Amino acid sequence: MTPIPHIPPEQLPELLRRMPKAELHIHIEGSLEPELIFALAQRNGVKIPYASVNELRRAYAFTNLQSFLDIYYAGASVLLKEQDFHDMAWAYLQRAAADNVVHAELFFDPQTHTARGVPMETVINGLHRACTEAGPALGVDASLILCFLRHLSEEEAFDTLEAALPYRGKFIGVGLDSSEVGHPPEKFARVFARCRQLGLHLVAHAGEEGPPAYVWTALDVLKVERIDHGVQSTKDPALMARLAKDRVPLTVCPLSNLKLCVFPKLSDHNLRELLDAGLLATVNSDDPAYFGGYMNDNFLATFAATGLTAAHAYQLARNSFEASFIDSARRTRYIDELDRVFASFV
Ligand code: ADE
Ligand code: ZN
Repeated sequence: MTPIPHIPPEQLPELLRRMPKAELHIHIEGSLEPELIFALAQRNGVKIPYASVNELRRAYAFTNLQSFLDIYYAGASVLLKEQDFHDMAWAYLQRAAADNVVHAELFFDPQTHTARGVPMETVINGLHRACTEAGPALGVDASLILCFLRHLSEEEAFDTLEAALPYRGKFIGVGLDSSEVGHPPEKFARVFARCRQLGLHLVAHAGEEGPPAYVWTALDVLKVERIDHGVQSTKDPALMARLAKDRVPLTVCPLSNLKLCVFPKLSDHNLRELLDAGLLATVNSDDPAYFGGYMNDNFLATFAATGLTAAHAYQLARNSFEASFIDSARRTRYIDELDRVFASFV
């Protein structure tokens, strides 16, 4: 839809809520709300070192990525049974539906669970059942992306891939997450090459806290199709040109960047700079239970802080479908629906 019809600024929040969108960067373990952590801890008889939901919430004061990851992995320790994984994903998918997310690609971290003795089958079957139910029940089309933890070895990533391959039909791709600095993408060159041979989609976190060099090697060594975060790319003009030329999607997570002190204030966020440079940037929630909001919270807070307009909103929603791993018929249907919603605001 070009040009975008004039939409009065006072209607922008409602437009942001109502427009259909895809979420491409959500760690499902990062959607575990404190209330659900406590409920699962009780159900499974797991002890957690916090006396109450409020005390746990008060611990969510992060200074950088690692300070968050320590609490995030501790929170995931309450997940033991297939039903726990299902219930966590179901809670997220209900929130997604309320935000008019019509398509979601969910990251999960199997090594966080298999290291505690939870079988791969339990993790994947629980998450996959929720994804399967979400289409008919909630109108959210959902799929899974298995992430390797980059602070662990490539050998451990290979073992994880091996354990997951019996469930190959239940996930669409692989990603790379956890502590970025000191663990460059090229550490996982061989396992990503294997995943590529297997026909899996490939993505990686790069340029969240780490340097532009990590974005280059995620692209050139791992051959990923999308970069998760990538906000450090603005420091390297040649990289910006490459990302624009090849239309490499960036799954940007503004409230995450704020909470992990990547930007001091939301008004300092470089999302507008990425869009103005012609990059295929998208808005996502990352770990919504820890960072203060789901998809629409990210859109509303970022637009309020940076003065982005209805034209940017259209671009971001459209980019989310362009960047997603959906078939072209579905993509066309979602973009047509996006156009209808925008037209209804004129
Ligand atoms: N795992 C969960 N959230 C993450 C993030 N923002 N960066 C890296 N790994 C993560
Ligand atoms: Zn992430």
